[in-house]
Amino acid sequence: MRSLSLIILPSLLYLLSTLTSVAAVTVDYKNYKTSKGDKLPNFSYAGYHASEKSLPASNSKVTKTLSPGSGDQTAAIQAALDSVWKAGGGVVALKAGKYAITPGLVIRNYTTLRGAGVGKTILNVKSLSGDVITIGDQTGKGKAIKTALITDSYIAAGTGTVHVVDASGFAVGQEVMVQRQVTKSWIAELGMNALVRSGKIQTWIKPGTLVQQPRKIASIHGKAISVDVPFTDSLIPAWSPQLVAYTPPSQPSEIGLESLSLTLSPSCSGRILSDTTCTANALLIGTWSTDSWIRDLALTGFNNFITVAYNASRITLSNIAMHRDGATDNGAGYALDVSLDGSQVLVENCSTQGAADSRSYSVATKALTPGPNAVLNYVHEQAVESIEPHMRWAHGLLVENQEGGALSLRNRATAGTGHGWTVNNAVGWNVNAKKLDIESPAGGQNYCFGCIGTPVSGNNGTYVSTCTHVEPKSLFAAQLADRGFDASKLGI
Ligand SMILES: *[C@@H]1O[C@H](CO)[C@@H](O)[C@H](O)[C@H]1NC(C)=O
Ligand SMILES: *[C@@H]1O[C@H](CO)[C@@H](O)[C@H](O)[C@H]1NC(C)=O
Ligand SMILES: *[C@@H]1O[C@H](CO)[C@@H](O)[C@H](O)[C@H]1NC(C)=O
Ligand SMILES: *[C@@H]1O[C@H](CO)[C@@H](O)[C@H](O)[C@H]1NC(C)=O
Ligand SMILES: *[C@@H]1O[C@H](CO)[C@@H](O)[C@H](O)[C@H]1NC(C)=O
Repeated sequence: MRSLSLIILPSLLYLLSTLTSVAAVTVDYKNYKTSKGDKLPNFSYAGYHASEKSLPASNSKVTKTLSPGSGDQTAAIQAALDSVWKAGGGVVALKAGKYAITPGLVIRNYTTLRGAGVGKTILNVKSLSGDVITIGDQTGKGKAIKTALITDSYIAAGTGTVHVVDASGFAVGQEVMVQRQVTKSWIAELGMNALVRSGKIQTWIKPGTLVQQPRKIASIHGKAISVDVPFTDSLIPAWSPQLVAYTPPSQPSEIGLESLSLTLSPSCSGRILSDTTCTANALLIGTWSTDSWIRDLALTGFNNFITVAYNASRITLSNIAMHRDGATDNGAGYALDVSLDGSQVLVENCSTQGAADSRSYSVATKALTPGPNAVLNYVHEQAVESIEPHMRWAHGLLVENQEGGALSLRNRATAGTGHGWTVNNAVGWNVNAKKLDIESPAGGQNYCFGCIGTPVSGNNGTYVSTCTHVEPKSLFAAQLADRGFDASKLGI
């Protein structure tokens, strides 16, 4: 009996899986359009070098090697990193063993910090006076060099050309912001002018604030200017859309951090958010850092793990396990595992693990975070861990093959400090979550394709195929293939 069911059960499951794969809905993602013409964003530009290149080999030549020493090793590690950086870059390797460090390490241009593996090279921090390791050291600002009004009657998400009043002064290869203003009437249309919490009006976004999309000019034909990465938000004339060419400050790039464990003990995980001794990050990708990566890490004991700063771009975070090893304080809000302010960030094969009561926002975009950003294969151990844009109109986020936890693309209304509508043009793709909460803002849309889970009743986001996954299996890989790149060959 027993052996028979052992044979029959797997064959039944196999049969079922073939049946469901026959029934799978194929999404025509290239032509999928709203009535206004908004298309699905092209997310495949997220990641190191827009996912056109593999990450450098993790066994590349080592420039300098350090062994564990006694006492605080921060100065020794920083000195090794700086001497390698000053000599033009390279790899600083940390041999297996334990290293006591204090926050404040900075990895600069063209330099990699590499351990001997997770659980082998272990960096230990006792308290958080600041972010423990920062990728890049730029703090400057960009300089605008040319601004022109955009004249189109509608620029749809997923397209990539604008017409300007005057194209003189723009050149192929220039960095540009495609930007528009937040207006009072748009705020009202979204209902964001009526957020009242404890009798007080909450400000969602101030009128006049800019919604920006960082791009590069790919071609110019008369007054038609095309950009390298399709738009992740739409534009209408009432928002005074502009194209602004600018010179960024020097961008630290080709920086890596890999193959080690970083532990904060005593733990800050689950601490009440008002405890400012616990707010700093394990890792910060600094502003303007570009084409850099963090991979193969285990991080333990932090309350906020990783932040990618605004104007950082083309960053890959891969194979990072974040452990929440502390009990959650009573009444504590959720801290952030991965906080995204930057653009073209690829978060792949990362996970949040930990105590049964651990709660967090596992991946959260912030105010006005520009897309495209993509989260692939995220695994949550506990139910109250969500991938949830945090606040104030981010745009262009893909969440694909998420396992466990929750996916929330929605209006948070008065939550936080009037966090309101959090995201537009966000896409869930073949997600297996405990809870789904997908809503669409007026004039925009959020989607879930092949998302299996329990949707919140009354949700008005676009759900397509809620019982079975859709084809293609990976939107990211399919879009990358359309550009001529093979995700599996690139190690994505
Ligand atoms: C973006 O992705 C679409 C598929 O969704 C593809 O057809 C298109 O070529 C990509 N865009 C660019 C500019 O490569
Ligand atoms: C990002 O860079 C752009 C271009 O220089 C600038 O307009 C914008 O204010 C920067 N954003 C932040 C948050 O620094
Ligand atoms: C980083 O190093 C590269 C190669 O040596 C150099 O071209 C670039 O200017 C450097 N950038 C910064 C921010 O130092
Ligand atoms: C990420 O996980 C997927 C399966 O979920 C696997 O196919 C892929 O090789 C992994 N990528 C990396 C970089 O580990
Ligand atoms: C979807 O529902 C939310 C919440 O009820 C609402 O604020 C929003 O305006 C609705 N969206 C559309 C497009 O009607």
